[in-house]
Amino acid sequence: MGLVTGVCLAKMGHGVICYDIDQNKIEQLNSGHVPFFEPKIEELVKKYLQEERITFASDILLATEKVDIIFIAVGTPQKENGEANLFYIENVAKEIGRHLSQYTVIVNKSTVPVGTGMLIKNIVTSESNIEFDIVSNPEFLREGNAVNDFLNPERIIIGSDSQKASSIINELYQDFACPIINTSLETAEMIKYASNAFLATKISFINEIANICERVGADIDDVSHAMGLDSRIGNKFLQAGIGYGGSCFPKDVKALNSIALSHDYDFELLRSVIKVNNNQRTFLIEKIKTLLVDLKGKRICIWGIAFKPDTDDIRESAAIDIIQLLHNSQTIINAYDPQVNYAHLENHEKIIGEINLFSDKYEALENCDALVLTTEWEEFKNPDFEIIRQKLVNPVIIDGRNIYSPSEMKQLGFRYISVGRKEV
Ligand code: UDX
Repeated sequence: MGLVTGVCLAKMGHGVICYDIDQNKIEQLNSGHVPFFEPKIEELVKKYLQEERITFASDILLATEKVDIIFIAVGTPQKENGEANLFYIENVAKEIGRHLSQYTVIVNKSTVPVGTGMLIKNIVTSESNIEFDIVSNPEFLREGNAVNDFLNPERIIIGSDSQKASSIINELYQDFACPIINTSLETAEMIKYASNAFLATKISFINEIANICERVGADIDDVSHAMGLDSRIGNKFLQAGIGYGGSCFPKDVKALNSIALSHDYDFELLRSVIKVNNNQRTFLIEKIKTLLVDLKGKRICIWGIAFKPDTDDIRESAAIDIIQLLHNSQTIINAYDPQVNYAHLENHEKIIGEINLFSDKYEALENCDALVLTTEWEEFKNPDFEIIRQKLVNPVIIDGRNIYSPSEMKQLGFRYISVGRKEV
């Protein structure tokens, strides 16, 4: 999010310094290399480096002295109890406080519990006598589409208790055509959580409808299409599957649940959203079991490890959970993802030694008892089914993302199970 914000602000014509404590990342960025996969970002980094509109620095002085606005975009990982861990936010607030040299607007873009804006304010105040103001400006960009989302937002939220800071940030975004909502710090912080939690709720809702569709013989894709035509419902985030993952939804939903609990409120609906999401992974394993009977010693091919297409991010990926569950059942796992390789799995000690990663999707199918599709990458949508059939021991496809048509699969002679649709 930090890098996307940086390059997009440079694109808007501003001078930008991107600061990170990780020197290795800074060196890579200064040589024009982006250390993760996200469409469009590398070409923009190269362009604005060349035009000297963007600088990457690991020296905090460069990033705090004589700047008008500081955007905080550090991670807010999840603690064991679901709460957001504010360690990085607190550290960066201290560092900013120690190095402020002139009036600065400090804008927080990280998703943080309500009240964190005030916490940042207190920390900076305890470190500095220089005038500053805090703004909460939550970001709604999606991985895989981050640059487009930043440049074409549907709304911009500016939360602050300072008129001066609000008008500076309103001016920064003045060329955007979308509504700009000015609120208090707390309201802006809540808007981000409420939005993510609502989208996650939509996904868990459609997944439960899908589970019922399977039992009553209805088709979830037709149901969600027809539901989505009602403008009060809308057609987005109604795709049934193996549940949401990624760096935001799982963490933010749990954090909002913790915020509610810490204020003596039981957010019952959100607890169910989390449970339903976890169940979707287990249900897929049950489906594989109904087809293969005993998973022990079977070889299964997984297509897709990233939590969604167009990213190499595997945080809270449904595919990772499914690989783990299959591994627990002593299944041998072949896997292929267009962007994920062994280096991405480094922090997943539990599974890294247990899967055979391939660099070709067809080679990964060799001698497998079934193909399980876990991420709907474009290159999986129109594969050569003849090769798939030849390579698999059994013509079995379990589709966790509903990308193939059951009738076509039947015609091609596959045993095919998806989510909320007829088994063929
Ligand atoms: C999300 C929010 O969309 C974004 O506004 C916020 O800033 C960060 O979190 P992101 O995590 O990049 O963005 O992914 P998103 O496209 O929202 O998908 C999240 C997960 O939900 C993915 O695992 C995806 O597969 C799943 N999903 C999404 C569904 O299962 N069904 C859907 O209909 C939509």
